[in-house]
Amino acid sequence: MVNGMNVDDPLDLERRTGLPADLLKLLETYPRETWAGHDNIHGLASMWLQRHDMFRDIGGTLTGAIADYREERTDARVFARFFAPRLEFFLAQLNGHHQVEDMHYFPVFARAESRLKRGFAILDRDHHLIHEALELNAETANAFLRALGEDEDRRRFAADAYAAQNERLVAMLARHLDDEEDLIVPLILDRGEHGLG
Ligand SMILES: [Fe+2]
Ligand SMILES: [Fe+2]
Repeated sequence: MVNGMNVDDPLDLERRTGLPADLLKLLETYPRETWAGHDNIHGLASMWLQRHDMFRDIGGTLTGAIADYREERTDARVFARFFAPRLEFFLAQLNGHHQVEDMHYFPVFARAESRLKRGFAILDRDHHLIHEALELNAETANAFLRALGEDEDRRRFAADAYAAQNERLVAMLARHLDDEEDLIVPLILDRGEHGLG
């Protein structure tokens, strides 16, 4: 394990480039470009996609804010006021989202389509890795925010450490969100929200 990454496991969240082909049969029937036009997209599936887009948006906003600060386009005080509440919201919402998926949706979906069970196990494991990354993210973010009042060297060191953690979290999340959508949206389109129980 390097940094929580399992280098021997091709399905590790930080190594894989997508889900294995046997889990993507429904995606072949319902490719992404057909989702928006499908009747069953309304309701649960579109709500899911909107939540994911919100996480992508906030992740991008945080990354952009850090870049602005590091490249001296914002000062420390303006940056902290903008960044801290958004990061807190991001971390809390993500935790809540994963809990609902783990406790409610994944078991329901895995029961509805037992051939996808392995896929939900992969996503569930991702959540644990993302959770660890979230905790590390919060720790380095707090160290970073504390360092804003210190000398230049410390500020820079803390900003670099945080930027690296944030980049890692955003990359893990991007992979996870795409894979989750590839597994779940075609299933909802195929069965209909009410056919899933
Ligand atoms: Fe998830
Ligand atoms: Fe999700």
